[in-house]
Amino acid sequence: MIKKAVIPAAGYGTRFLPITKAMPKEMLPIIDRPTIEFIVNEAVESGITDILLVVSGNKNAIVDYFDRNLELETILKAQGKDFEYGMIKHIGEGANIHFVRQREQLGLGHAVLQAETFIGNEPFAVLLGDDMYVNHEYPAIKQMIDVYEEVHASILGTMEVPHSHTHLYGITSPKKGETGKLKELESVIEKPKPEDAPSRSAIGGRYVLSPSIFKYLRNQERGKGNEIQLTDAILRMMADEKVYSLDLDAKRYDVGNKVDYIEAIIDFALQDESLKAEVLEKLKKKI
Ligand code: G1P
Repeated sequence: MIKKAVIPAAGYGTRFLPITKAMPKEMLPIIDRPTIEFIVNEAVESGITDILLVVSGNKNAIVDYFDRNLELETILKAQGKDFEYGMIKHIGEGANIHFVRQREQLGLGHAVLQAETFIGNEPFAVLLGDDMYVNHEYPAIKQMIDVYEEVHASILGTMEVPHSHTHLYGITSPKKGETGKLKELESVIEKPKPEDAPSRSAIGGRYVLSPSIFKYLRNQERGKGNEIQLTDAILRMMADEKVYSLDLDAKRYDVGNKVDYIEAIIDFALQDESLKAEVLEKLKKKI
């Protein structure tokens, strides 16, 4: 059973400057909850009991968010605001949440390497803090965890992207003859130009990894963008063990992208019975 997850949340958030100058991008709200909470909840709803958030120096708001705020709890109770009290008290209760600081931002591979001691020698999940997946019935990472139980090998969560977008993702190359949602991979390449892309099947920010990944990450040389890339370590691991891709069945929002972020807010507003009618009315007027 996969019980541990790593959520890298140490990036600078340059796509969302200037707000991210003073606030972690993972705290950007989808209405009234930070994006990171949705990612933590996906892990919790998938049976994860221990989550390691890999953070950096300016991310204390994330630590505070998952901690209790006893002063506020006392005030809300005294004011008889039981609903609000319950709302803040239960944040972060679904799993044990741990933190480690990535002292230098050397890339995603380096961020995942910070989890080595926490993970030990068991397979684990990785959920990128920028990528929100919504499937209330069957969370994206649970889809991968279930497949792990069958294949007992690393799995990369994938989706099809337009040819012109391959330079934004890790792109997978299935072994010959592999078809369907689950494919054994031949190779993977980080952010290839369209003309160099072996397929349009992109890694969407979800991984189930064998603990042997750390062996490759420890001595992984810098790759694309002069960063230590997780994709490059996975490629080296592929020479020694099987790696699969699984097409995920869920709505994905890249909340590091402004248009996706706005779409997520609109979608969540339209799913919220207390907001839906008014928001829809305003949207209709605009259109
Ligand atoms: C990272 C990974 C990339 C993956 C992407 C998904 O890139 O390196 O392989 O496709 O996340 O969001 P980033 O977007 O952090 O540059």
